[in-house]
Amino acid sequence: MLVHNNASLQPFNTFGIAARARDLVIIESVQSLQEVLGSAWLAQQRANGRGVFVLGGGSNIVLSADVQAVVLKIEIGGCALVGETDKHWIVQAGAGVNWHDFVCWTVAQGWPGLENLALIPGVVGASPVQNIGAYGVELQDRFHALDAVDMYTGQTFSLNAGQCAFAYRDSVFKHPPAKALGQAGSGDAGGTPVARGAGLPHGLGMGLKGRAVITHVRFALPKAWRAELSYLDLQRQVEQTGNTQPSAQQVLDWVVAIRRAKLPDPKVIGNAGSFFKNPTVTEYQCADIIGREPNLVHYPLADGRIKLAAGWLIDACGWRGKTIGLAGVYDKQALVLVNKGSADKPVTGGEVMTLAKAIQTSVFERFGIMLEPEPEVV
Ligand code: EPU
Repeated sequence: MLVHNNASLQPFNTFGIAARARDLVIIESVQSLQEVLGSAWLAQQRANGRGVFVLGGGSNIVLSADVQAVVLKIEIGGCALVGETDKHWIVQAGAGVNWHDFVCWTVAQGWPGLENLALIPGVVGASPVQNIGAYGVELQDRFHALDAVDMYTGQTFSLNAGQCAFAYRDSVFKHPPAKALGQAGSGDAGGTPVARGAGLPHGLGMGLKGRAVITHVRFALPKAWRAELSYLDLQRQVEQTGNTQPSAQQVLDWVVAIRRAKLPDPKVIGNAGSFFKNPTVTEYQCADIIGREPNLVHYPLADGRIKLAAGWLIDACGWRGKTIGLAGVYDKQALVLVNKGSADKPVTGGEVMTLAKAIQTSVFERFGIMLEPEPEVV
């Protein structure tokens, strides 16, 4: 087990924030993960009150300060077809596999279904955590199951979609056990193991944040594939090209082009994707806002609530292209906050959070809506 002390996390977060980890351990297999979790060294760190922080591709985090918890960077690789049913190909990837590479590989192999999710930064293991979604497809639409390791017992377990409790940019992995169970104060580090063997009993409302390390994810990709083109940006591509029956590769290329046109490439401009979730409001609240703001961008949802475009709300408050220190609002998509610094003098987590709070305040003052951050603030 190799522990890197005082390790720079700048290369490991897509925002490019220059925070450091007191201890960083790279994990390349389930076995090495279990060794670290069962080690006397980690037991000692935990006895000293330190937690464990699991890092994937670092594309959905904001490092607000140096990380005192032990950082486990998951680099478990491998992609394979592992089964099939009448309707689906079951394809598995290691948690450390780059997400976009995996999407391209599945489409090239003739197992389409993930193409609308092309070019999302990050790794496969992070994809279920926030139930990634784009252009009319969410991870939960293609998810089959995942394998994870209990951080306290080292035991492996598997979860199906229901047990992951997917919702809009949300899952069981975003909620701490105590909070989700409504047991204030009982979420101590050494508590009862969360799972043994095959899987978690569902229906307990149990959270797994800080308890589970995802090691492999399996996807169910439809044999009877049909292009998902309902999203406005994709309809425009159909109209412009006249291609009403695109292949999966064509859809993938369209999604890549759309994303490149309005979202910054983290390799060039540091960012963590959408910084806030799109809020939902009641029909009554929406009508009230439209009375004052007739151009409000809104989408009715199946449950009767209305989704608002957070990017539009931020844009309407005049934030597009603005900066605070080295933290900026991207000039082509106001929902994305960016690193305006350089590799030598990058933005700090403090600057990003100051900008985020200023945006929240102005959106709240004008629309009465408190935007909720989408990435995890560490
Ligand atoms: N808009 C503005 N000004 C802006 C930005 C957006 O007026 O500066 C308006 C647009 O004109 C559009 C609406 O807001 O009418 C929605 O914008 P867009 O289509 O870009 O999508 P979004 O709701 O901002 C969501 C996801 C993205 C995903 C896209 C495409 C969230 C939080 N974000 O963005 O996901 O790629 O839809 O499906 O749900 C991410 O999660 O990191 C992410 C990039």
